[in-house]
Amino acid sequence: MKSVWGRRFAGRREDPRLEAFNASIGEDAFLAGAEIAASKAYAAALRRGGVLTAREAARIAAGLSKVKRRIAAGEDLGAYEDIHSAVELLLVDEIGEAGKKLHTGRSRNEQVATDERLFLKDAIPGILDGLRACQRALVALAERYPDVILPGYTHLQQAQYVLFSHAIMSHFWPLERAKSRLKDALVRIDVLPLGSGALAGTTAPVDRAFLARALVFAALSENSLDAVADRSFILETLSALALLLLDLARAAEDFVVFASREFGFLLLDDAIATSSSLMPQKKNPDIFELVRAGAGRLFGHFSRLFVTVKGLPSTYNKDLQDDKAPLRLGLEDARRTLDAFEIALRNIRPDRKAIARRAEPLLYATDLADYLTAKGVPFREAHGAVGALVRAAEKAGRPLTALTTRELQAAHPLFGDDVGRVFDPGRSVRRKKGAGSTHPARVKDQIRRAKALCKS
Ligand code: ARG
Repeated sequence: MKSVWGRRFAGRREDPRLEAFNASIGEDAFLAGAEIAASKAYAAALRRGGVLTAREAARIAAGLSKVKRRIAAGEDLGAYEDIHSAVELLLVDEIGEAGKKLHTGRSRNEQVATDERLFLKDAIPGILDGLRACQRALVALAERYPDVILPGYTHLQQAQYVLFSHAIMSHFWPLERAKSRLKDALVRIDVLPLGSGALAGTTAPVDRAFLARALVFAALSENSLDAVADRSFILETLSALALLLLDLARAAEDFVVFASREFGFLLLDDAIATSSSLMPQKKNPDIFELVRAGAGRLFGHFSRLFVTVKGLPSTYNKDLQDDKAPLRLGLEDARRTLDAFEIALRNIRPDRKAIARRAEPLLYATDLADYLTAKGVPFREAHGAVGALVRAAEKAGRPLTALTTRELQAAHPLFGDDVGRVFDPGRSVRRKKGAGSTHPARVKDQIRRAKALCKS
């Protein structure tokens, strides 16, 4: 294996299985772009500090650009220990002696932390874009069907009518929280470790403020020991992504259930449906099911790294090398799940007829209690009267809405002939008045605010 520390040992016998076990090149090649950018900035800092001549610095910069092109063109990195060694040794291969000065005062311990932060600063905006795209798709779906009303659920039992658009928008706000969490995480990611050396700080005359400017970091790490040990910035990102995928899973679960024959509320476009190899009739919501499975993936990436970091002594320990897969896969899984979710959202629509067929008269029970309350009956008494009616209807095997005024009056004398007006889904949702409620005007307000947030 081509390592950067080979001369420490005399005639070390290499067991290829151990070399492979110790190496991280199979996992960290995705950091190549960040590694090269950080190395260029470091070379410029060494030049300013007088460690490199202008000529050497220029050769290193040009050499790093060539290394970048070689890697982009598919250079086989398999023989190197990790991406840091690969870039350094390829640089020496390109420009010779001058390349050997690049590592002056520098350690892979700070490089890896720097690269990971650069990677996240680059990748998180892509996740935010994916989130905004999903938000726009939700708004478009909500706006397309402003007058569809469907049963809302608690305990997976029909509870009260809500606007379809309100139900769809209920999945908008978790995405807004995800954006907020990720933007907040970026504040702590945006701190530069470079210049921390292996753990104690660098002996090279590098101006860290210059490095931060060159690499566009908002702040410098305050403590070199902390800088090389900390991985909470990755965990924080993964936990934000895990919460995001948990929220997407809840939304996906609604859509899976709603698309079932038993509910039938949602129709899936052929574009996002899948079928069975055996059962020709099947139209399956696989895409939403895979979105639902994403939460397990993200929790896995988060918990794997969490447990790896737990109990480590200060500062850098090789255990930390195992942070690469959770980092890369966490970001990758989040992005492709958001993309799939967005496409799926653009290919579903409510089935009004099926919704009307499935909606139960019991959805009006609370409206009936509210009817009495509006006539001055204390709510607890109204609730009791309607409870008795529900029981009576159940016993008689008739829908609540089919009881006669006489039967209603047996439960409470204040039921009048006007009670029939209660049995109207539109009226039911319009009676919900407050901000944030399912009243059509309030949902309009909600969508107006949501639209502005899609841009932020
Ligand atoms: N490949 C290592 C990692 O990803 C780089 C840091 C190695 N440092 C060390 N002291 N062995 O963590």
